[in-house]
Amino acid sequence: MAPFAVLAGIAYASCESSQEEPVTTSAIDSPLSPELARQWLERWDRQQEGYIPQREGRFRAIVELVREVCGDAPLVLDLACGPGSLTQRILEAIPGASVVAVDLDPLLLAIAKAALGDAEGRVTWVEASLAEPSWLEALGGRPVDAAVSTTALHWLDADVLMGLYRQLGAVVREGGVFLNGDHMDYPASERGIGAAARAIRDRRTEEAFAAPEMEDYQAWHDEFRALPELASLIAERDRRFESRGAERWRAGYEMHRAGLLNAGFREVTTVWQDLDNRVIAALR
Ligand SMILES: C[S@@+](CC[C@H](N)C(=O)[O-])C[C@H]1O[C@@H](n2cnc3c(N)ncnc32)[C@H](O)[C@@H]1O
Repeated sequence: MAPFAVLAGIAYASCESSQEEPVTTSAIDSPLSPELARQWLERWDRQQEGYIPQREGRFRAIVELVREVCGDAPLVLDLACGPGSLTQRILEAIPGASVVAVDLDPLLLAIAKAALGDAEGRVTWVEASLAEPSWLEALGGRPVDAAVSTTALHWLDADVLMGLYRQLGAVVREGGVFLNGDHMDYPASERGIGAAARAIRDRRTEEAFAAPEMEDYQAWHDEFRALPELASLIAERDRRFESRGAERWRAGYEMHRAGLLNAGFREVTTVWQDLDNRVIAALR
């Protein structure tokens, strides 16, 4: 199979089913050296903290809930894992955990794979779109104990997100948990509170990036993409994401909650929150 060609035709926001298979890979196919990849992962984490000041607290809540609900040796799905920040924290905090980490971006996965490797067989990297039901094939029919995601599912259109939640309702074992950390709009009935929370968030971000040493996403992105090692992946990455506009719809808290309840999760609530930055937990 030619992995990149397989994914090239995916309509990012589409929910259409496909016969295409996801690409499951090990550490060795990254063009980056482990040392270089670790530097770029650290820089990713720093710039993301400018947008999400409590990012580590949010990670901690997710990891602790996974361990509390699922025990010391869970199989965890990291959805839209990017360069592997959350996967890294799960591996470090839960030595018995295994992770299946999925993302569509070959550049960010190049960091993840080289920086973290396969963690002695504990991580499987999957290059696939969550908008395509075939990403589930990477699990080989196994149920998972937990599914997690951070700063990512707002990329999915409503029908794709609801479809993903239905898939999670089927794949997360009974008694398992789904945890999603992201900015989620307040309900319409709390519009005033939501607007104030959003204004505070914007001000914090502005202050964070006012520091001279602070790099923002655009600066990170531009310098990273200029690495000669990545030249062969750039065109494919851009093709996969070309339909993404600058301003996108994003699901609010109520929609996430309703979608998860409809998908068969029996308890859904906020377990961690900083303004509109929440971790929503769903118990299967
Ligand atoms: C802001 S990054 C977050 C990465 C990581 N979870 C973190 O917290 O640092 C959003 C991620 O969503 C991924 N993504 C967007 N659409 C996707 C899709 N349809 N399928 C899989 N991953 C997707 C992007 O490639 C990117 O890695």
